[in-house]
Amino acid sequence: MSYDPRPGMSVQEIDTPALILDLDDLEYNLQTMSRFFAGKAVGLRPHSKTHKCPQIAQRQLEAGAIGITCAKLGEAEVMARAGIQNILIANQVTGAVKLDRLADLARTCNLTVAVDDAEGVRQLGETCRAAGVKVGVLVEVNIGMGRCGVEPDEPALRLARQVLDQPGLVFEGLMGYEGHLVLIPDLQERTEKVAAAIGLLQSSKDLLERHGIPVRIVSGGGTGTYDLTAGCAPITEIQAGSYVFMDATYANIRPEFRVSMTMLTSVVSRPEPKHIVVDAGLKTITKEFGLPTLLGVAGSMRYLSEEHAVIDLAEPDAVQLKAGDKVFMLPSHCCTTTNLHDVLHVVRGGKLVDLWPVAARGHSQ
Ligand SMILES: Cc1ncc(COP(=O)(O)O)c(C=O)c1O
Repeated sequence: MSYDPRPGMSVQEIDTPALILDLDDLEYNLQTMSRFFAGKAVGLRPHSKTHKCPQIAQRQLEAGAIGITCAKLGEAEVMARAGIQNILIANQVTGAVKLDRLADLARTCNLTVAVDDAEGVRQLGETCRAAGVKVGVLVEVNIGMGRCGVEPDEPALRLARQVLDQPGLVFEGLMGYEGHLVLIPDLQERTEKVAAAIGLLQSSKDLLERHGIPVRIVSGGGTGTYDLTAGCAPITEIQAGSYVFMDATYANIRPEFRVSMTMLTSVVSRPEPKHIVVDAGLKTITKEFGLPTLLGVAGSMRYLSEEHAVIDLAEPDAVQLKAGDKVFMLPSHCCTTTNLHDVLHVVRGGKLVDLWPVAARGHSQ
């Protein structure tokens, strides 16, 4: 019997391990975010690293997003090929091979990229000038995460001036990602720390403007901070990504969104009554934010190996599960889990309605 997933098929018939996307819950999240941004001067530019799926990016734009954010050049190429017109690569793109690709990409869409280094700016600017294209640039500022970014104020001003010296580049503004704050459980503490971090973007913007450099865009924010960051004066764009799917980690921080993506797994073994083994391991679900959660069955996950999850049942006598039965799991981190899959099984009311390729998955170059 050949397996041919078709619309109308029950979710329980989908082969495993499989990512299941509930369309009602996805639409709920899109609408919830869209309602938050409606009528505000700040725009939403969702981070597509969460889904890597053009069908979802299109729905985000239809729901009012002003453009799409990508992490990687390869992801941006996939989104542009799918017709997405306005793309921010919220990371540095370096090296001759990628810079040539970036210049080619700039011929097909309105492209903006982050920079944090004078030599990087020179090479990017030279490549764009030689190719006859213009690329928008945001100077990334380190606002406390300690990942990329120049230091606030004078270093940001210096780099902005270097961007302005490059005829192939258009200085658009500043970017700062407060990733070290997005999971702070206490709302007051998160709010205060976000205000202080975004204050560094404000002082940098003020300094640039005092030197006659207009700052049109100030971009930042994630799912844990979108509303707090959007409320800070200099911000013009928010880069939240995970809100579309949610996961066990963000569910505690952001109850206004629903979990829309889960993983369907099959029991492959029940070697003794008190533990089951399912067919999703490290090659299909990630664990850097903690082990996945089993849904609808009381138990605790012991560990993941490459292709197995071993689960201790809390009440073995009450659980009828046997090999071949299906169980849902909730990832602890939706973004890295999605990247392990080719396709999202889109369901509504328990029935398959579509298959959406995770087209940019693995496009890490
Ligand atoms: C540059 C940047 N912006 C925004 C985000 C926000 O993503 P999320 O909404 O998934 O927290 C991330 C997350 O990694 C990021 O790296």
